[in-house]
Amino acid sequence: MRHSLQCINCDKSYGPKQIVYTCEECGGLLDVRYDYEEIGKSLDVEAWPKRPEGVWRYRELLPVDSSGAITLMEGGTSLQTCRRLGQEIGIQRVYVKNEGENPTGSFKDRGMTVGITKALELGAKVVACASTGNTSASLAAYAAKAGIRAIVFIPSGKIALGKLSQAIAHGAEIVRMKGNFDDALRTVLEFTGSHSDVYLLNSVNPYRIEGQKTLAFEVYEQLGRMLPDILVLPVGNAGNISAIWKGFRDLKELGLVDRLPKMMGIQAEGAAPIVKAFREHRAEIEQVDHPETVATAIRIGAPVSWKKALQAVHDSNGLVEAVSDKEILNAQRDIAQLEGLFIEPASAASIAGLRKLNAMGKIGKDEVTVCVATGHGLKDPDIIIKNYELPPEVDPGAETLERVLKLPEVMLQ
Ligand code: F0G
Repeated sequence: MRHSLQCINCDKSYGPKQIVYTCEECGGLLDVRYDYEEIGKSLDVEAWPKRPEGVWRYRELLPVDSSGAITLMEGGTSLQTCRRLGQEIGIQRVYVKNEGENPTGSFKDRGMTVGITKALELGAKVVACASTGNTSASLAAYAAKAGIRAIVFIPSGKIALGKLSQAIAHGAEIVRMKGNFDDALRTVLEFTGSHSDVYLLNSVNPYRIEGQKTLAFEVYEQLGRMLPDILVLPVGNAGNISAIWKGFRDLKELGLVDRLPKMMGIQAEGAAPIVKAFREHRAEIEQVDHPETVATAIRIGAPVSWKKALQAVHDSNGLVEAVSDKEILNAQRDIAQLEGLFIEPASAASIAGLRKLNAMGKIGKDEVTVCVATGHGLKDPDIIIKNYELPPEVDPGAETLERVLKLPEVMLQ
């Protein structure tokens, strides 16, 4: 596999055997670069549908050797046609890419299968990450599968119960850190900077992004080898928007498509530094010191991949917009009750964004729109229990039902 790492600021290159997360010269983010001409010579897109679904179907476009893949059969998630939601909002063709179907219940598994495989290639025995929950759950599971040690740094009291239970169940060493995700990420960056034997698997690691980009290839295949007009997704640390954009660009580099979707990133109002920079036409973001939102997965004030995200938005003629917690919770209810999809609050930000962008006239009613539902609703059961009333307890016996159920008159007779 021919690839190298390259700094997005100063173009400095690094080889695939070097352990490096950001540019040693200028601190810039790194990107995996390929020789597309070389890949194009042997790539046979007709072979894809004949292989099992999932991340490794696209092995020609991944920067690790697939024969050593540590996999839990991630990816291959469904693209749900959402007619009832579309009708309600007023957009004809709405699809939801249901990433909650992944082995640990979120899109993180796509990046983690590649990241952990790379860790083994590099001979790492310990992997680490900071997380708002899903990355730590995924890292814990894949490290268990690989038989290596996982250390996860989580903001104490601020991650959803389902995610914490996953990290515990898979046997990760958990560091419960006071402060927020940004503090935890800063700490793990410092820690891995001075402990080269601990391999960092946050999305600043460019290999993880490569796994996550496979969502773009799946959408391309699922829509019958075409791309949507618009892709809407929640943005926290901004790795996923950068990853999916990379996947779309790969398809263009290989001459498989000639048009790319508009990338529309959605942040929560209380944690929206990228939205602010975009609105104010600034080249840099200003960190939000005390990010707050009900969507704990994206409760992030200093997103590490902001630069790649802003670039994706500008280059695709897209945008970033913010939604309120109330809009997020309403969207979570709507998609659960209109489409049968239970998704976590951060994921519902994309549905809330869809509604808002449509109301703002940013999405045409016949534009093919894909929303990414990044994680399963069962990750955060507390949020439902907190926001909905539990039904009253009743005595057994059919006659009590007539009192408590809202049955139509004919059924009551
Ligand atoms: N949706 C969910 C469910 C997430 O868990 C995350 C990020 C995002 C969206 C945002 O993706 O950070 O790539 O922009 N969760 C990370 C974590 C931060 O630690 O699990 P992003």
